[in-house]
Amino acid sequence: MCGIVGYVGNKPVVDILVDGLEQLEYRGYDSSGIAVKCSDKIEIYKAEGKLCNLREELSSHAYEISKATVGIGHIRWATHGAPSVVNAHPHTCNCGKLVLVHNGIIENYKELKAELEAKGCKFRSQTDTETVAHLIANIYGEVKDLTKAVHLAAKKIEGAYALCIMHNDEPDKIVATKRNAPLVIGLGEGEYYIASDVPAFIKHTKQAIYLGDNQVATITKSSIKIENENMLEISPKVELLPWEPVALSKMGYKHFMLKEIHEQPDIIRNILVGKIKTSDNNIVLDEVNLTKDTLKNLNRIQIIACGTSLHAAMVGKYIIEDFCKIPVDIEASSEYIYRNTVTDKHTLVIGVSQSGETADTLTAIKQSKARGSHILIITNRPDSAMAREADSLLSVNAGIEVSVAATKSYIAQLTSFYLLALYMAEIKGTMTSDNLKKIKSEMLLLPQKIEQILAHKEEIQKCARKYANTRDFIYIARGINYPTALEGALKLKEISYINATGYPAGELKHGPIAMLDETMPVLSILMNGSVYEKLLSNSEEAKARNARMIALTNSTDEKLNDLFDSIIRVPDVMELLSPLIAMIPLQLIAYYIAEFLGKDVDQPRNLAKSVTVE
Ligand code: F6R
Repeated sequence: MCGIVGYVGNKPVVDILVDGLEQLEYRGYDSSGIAVKCSDKIEIYKAEGKLCNLREELSSHAYEISKATVGIGHIRWATHGAPSVVNAHPHTCNCGKLVLVHNGIIENYKELKAELEAKGCKFRSQTDTETVAHLIANIYGEVKDLTKAVHLAAKKIEGAYALCIMHNDEPDKIVATKRNAPLVIGLGEGEYYIASDVPAFIKHTKQAIYLGDNQVATITKSSIKIENENMLEISPKVELLPWEPVALSKMGYKHFMLKEIHEQPDIIRNILVGKIKTSDNNIVLDEVNLTKDTLKNLNRIQIIACGTSLHAAMVGKYIIEDFCKIPVDIEASSEYIYRNTVTDKHTLVIGVSQSGETADTLTAIKQSKARGSHILIITNRPDSAMAREADSLLSVNAGIEVSVAATKSYIAQLTSFYLLALYMAEIKGTMTSDNLKKIKSEMLLLPQKIEQILAHKEEIQKCARKYANTRDFIYIARGINYPTALEGALKLKEISYINATGYPAGELKHGPIAMLDETMPVLSILMNGSVYEKLLSNSEEAKARNARMIALTNSTDEKLNDLFDSIIRVPDVMELLSPLIAMIPLQLIAYYIAEFLGKDVDQPRNLAKSVTVE
């Protein structure tokens, strides 16, 4: 969370910084700010809220800052201290000569703050970051060398950080460092870009250095020097980024989320191309380095993820156990890392992450890697920190997802899980060829079926509006669609702020049924298959408590009209693939309710797309 940028060169820096921050808005939008070197001092400009507020603030200082060619910037997702101007970065020290921006959390900031206050430092904000500004400035007072001061300060800091620092006594220089937070340096002609993520500068350069943990980079417009934690200079690896600048356009859609929902049929087509040639061919998954022997020696699989990716993992568990007969555990990364997890070289650990940067998942992956497990990463970002830890990398290729609420990356993760499960089943010989063939041919039809749903989105919009003015919402399902219920509820709560919950329908009678009355919408994900009749009975139980009943179904049974107040029908699909179909109307319901309620669909309050703090 939070995004940082920096630039040293000959070009006017303000637009470079603000455009860079715009590309990082997915990391937070509570406040933003920049610091630029003007004629004789460093000037700081900040604004609360979205980046447009900073742009407005800067417009009234256009003249003073127009000549600046060195600067740093920040976009914030608040951890310590409310979203406000005083807590916005850049932060400075008492003399105002040192400024810095920070992404991460300084865990020992209270102890450091107490020490610094005892030395006379006056704090203005409630942030952990300000401590680092005072700390480095304090050390700088003794050593008079910014790079050295940063090295020495880093030894005292506990936690995760990426930092860009400027000092007025060493003008035209930025010092950058990181530990357990991303930082990448773009190399131009007589200029350098620094950012939390590549999109911030990809339109300027494709050459980059990924800074390693505890390394310190000292950057001027004509030089870059990188030192390891022992202050010894190292030669960094310069990488050619595989990225093209992407014009992030809504393509006529009102929101990125709606556009991304509509991209899903093509995303599935792109993922499947070359991997399922025809239903008679074996799955081609060259990226996965799991040999027959490794698979034979596996006694379990653990899948670790957060949020929407965790819901994809739950579907993954269901199908891997069904197709491959290997026991699978799934766990939220944030829980996994704080207990004595049992993993070894006979465990395959799968990390699932859209961003590939989620701090909890990254830590969990590193822990299991250290215990000798094979690490398979399913991510939308092959250039991410998690991808760099992978023994096998399954890139889901959903393209940049701008909307904070994940939609297309979820469908891409699910599709990748199906490919992986089929691939492993083929190697292990755990499925009949008839079954394999049937699933593969049905998978090839998925894009068309999703297109059919999207073609009737107005009906879903009508249904969504009928239930928009509710305080609570319950989603029920069983079996393979229980994760669909959880994900449908998550989508609704994150963009409409309605208290939505997903339940395994059989659990309703063990407590949640007490909440039902004539005000409560209950959406039943009633897909044909092994649990259809059971779920129908659970829906009857809810109806008997006067709940407002909605069915999402591929059944053509006319009798459903008596039980349900609203019915959303989707094309028929085999039960094992139904999560890929059932999710689409749920994404649309969440979208249309939030849009109807006038919420900020693409940037819902309190959220960030990349969660780089534990
Ligand atoms: C919900 C959402 C989040 C993420 C979660 C994990 O729409 O996007 O719940 O799924 O923060 O992020 P990744 O997948 O990047 O690890």
